[in-house]
Parts: sequence; structure tokens; C-alpha cells
Amino acid sequence: MNEVLQYLIADEDGIYVDGTLGDGGHSAAILKKFENSKVIGIDEDADALKIASKNLSLFGNRITLIQGNFADLESLVREEARYNYVDGVLLDIGLRQEVVDDPDRGFSFRHDGPLDMRFNKHSQLTAYIVVNRYPQKRLAEILRRYGDVSQSRYIANRIVFARIKSPIATTNQLTQIIKSLFPSSATKNVLQKVFQAIRIEVNDEFNALESALKQSLEILNPGGKIAVISYHSGEDRIVKKFFATESKDCICPPELPVCRCGHKKSLKIITKKPIIPSADEVKNNRSARSAKLRVAQKI
Ligand SMILES: C[S@@+](CC[C@H](N)C(=O)[O-])C[C@H]1O[C@@H](n2cnc3c(N)ncnc32)[C@H](O)[C@@H]1O
Repeated sequence: MNEVLQYLIADEDGIYVDGTLGDGGHSAAILKKFENSKVIGIDEDADALKIASKNLSLFGNRITLIQGNFADLESLVREEARYNYVDGVLLDIGLRQEVVDDPDRGFSFRHDGPLDMRFNKHSQLTAYIVVNRYPQKRLAEILRRYGDVSQSRYIANRIVFARIKSPIATTNQLTQIIKSLFPSSATKNVLQKVFQAIRIEVNDEFNALESALKQSLEILNPGGKIAVISYHSGEDRIVKKFFATESKDCICPPELPVCRCGHKKSLKIITKKPIIPSADEVKNNRSARSAKLRVAQKI
């Protein structure tokens, strides 16, 4: 929290987008500390907006709440919130702990529930569809790309074998299949990765992040900043690569003798290395343990 406030705020009277509003913790901290600031809070999850709207009611019209996907950042800010430019964009990717712990949302192998995993309860694709209808090859690819699952083809094969007998309808059924494949010492790690990979596919998380980063550049005032907190290597890679590309003038392959791309840098990287939480913060907030914060500034 302290680092977000320290790095994100370019203008104390500025307008900030919190693209992952959640319970409104970060938004409240900005609005409280900077008395003339304004925040546009976006979340895909209607439940989060309900909670945030209560938590932030004391800030009146300094907070604008919008239900939407940050993949549509530019249109949400310009057409819905009616601001053309902002001074900072914050993305604290992932999901709220309450959602992880809610069996009905189907995000966790620790609770039995339907295979759902949608951030937005109205979207079409569910974990059930991914697990029961995706072809084996695509399933394996998702496990590998989004979860860094090393035995992705083997696991996909076993899932497909199991679903022939009867559909895999619950988190527990999927968990039991994975548990039967590995020694118990390894299962927690594999389960975490498998569930993460399916969740990323269901919510198209990597594409959404890439879109939000690109659109941030369109809506940021010069000097404005993008701050992203990510929780696993796949997300962090996307942010790191985007910042690296946009902070270079030419992005032609090195073997080209002259520049053909005409690319102009639009960002300055503020955090050469990602900021990670202190031991104290991790002690007080276990879910911060894998967080990495990267910040860049629009030129
Ligand atoms: C880790 S929580 C954010 C917590 C928040 N920073 C706070 O202080 O309370 C992440 C939130 O982002 C939302 N979210 C994740 N992906 C999203 C997306 N593509 N578009 C909009 N909201 C998204 C989730 O629904 C969740 O509420």
C-alpha cells in the first residue's frame, strides 16, 4: 500500500484509475491521503462493487464506480466516467480473498464447489467448459502456458480420460483426479498451478492485461504513471515486456542495420527491479507474499 501511494501519485490533485477496485482498499487510501484527488474505480465483479461502494461512500463524487473489464479501460474511462485523461492507472491483478474462499465461485481446490472461476458471473466461459469440453491438446497448452505446469500433457490426458466416464463437475472431482497422479508431497503445488491456469483461461486474463497496459498509454497525461501489482510469473512477464518495449525508441530485430519500425518510446521505467513486500508486510498479509510491483511513467 505505502509503495503504491509513493510511486503512483504524480499529481496530488490528480485523477486516478483503480482498474481492480476490489474492496476499495487502494482507492480509499488515495482519496484519504490526497484530499483533492479523484478516483475512477473499475471492477468486473458486481459483488466487489457493492462492497467498495459502501466502503467509499464517504468520498462522495470524488469516486466514480464502474462495473467493467479493464480490457476496455479506454472506453470505460472516456465514455462511462467521462474523463479524457488521467494521472495514474493502478492494476492490482488477481482476486479478492473472499472470492477465493467462497466455494460457490469454484476458484479453490481447498473448497468443494462447482467448477466456475468466472470473475464476472455473467460471462459465458466457465471452468466446467474448459475442463469438460476443451480438446486435450488445448487443455495441455493452457496448463503449460498459464500455469507453467511441467507435466501438462500427462495431466490433460488424465482429465480427458476421466471425463469420458462422467463429467467433472466440481472442484473436488478435479482435485481428486490430480491427487491420484502425484505423490502427496507434490500435489499442492500442481493443484495450485492447474487451478491458476484454468482461471486465467476462463477470464482471458493475459489478453485483458495486455489490452489494459496498451490503453493506459492512450489515457495517461504526460508524467502520469502505470503501477501494476502481479502475483505470478506469467503476469509479471507481460508487464516487464510491455514496459521494456515501450521504453525503447526502436524495436526492430537487432540484425536490421537501420530502423524500419519507427517506434517511439512513450514510457520511462521507474522500478528497474520489481518492488516486493517486506517481511513484515508478508507476516501481516500472507496473500502479499508473491506480489511484485512495477511502475512506469508516461513521457
Ligand atoms: C486483488 S483484488 C484488488 C484489491 C484492491 N486493490 C483493494 O485494495 O481492495 C483484484 C480485483 O480485480 C478484479 N479484476 C480482476 N481482473 C479484472 C479485469 N480484467 N477487469 C476488472 N476487474 C478485474 C477482481 O474482481 C478483484 O476484485
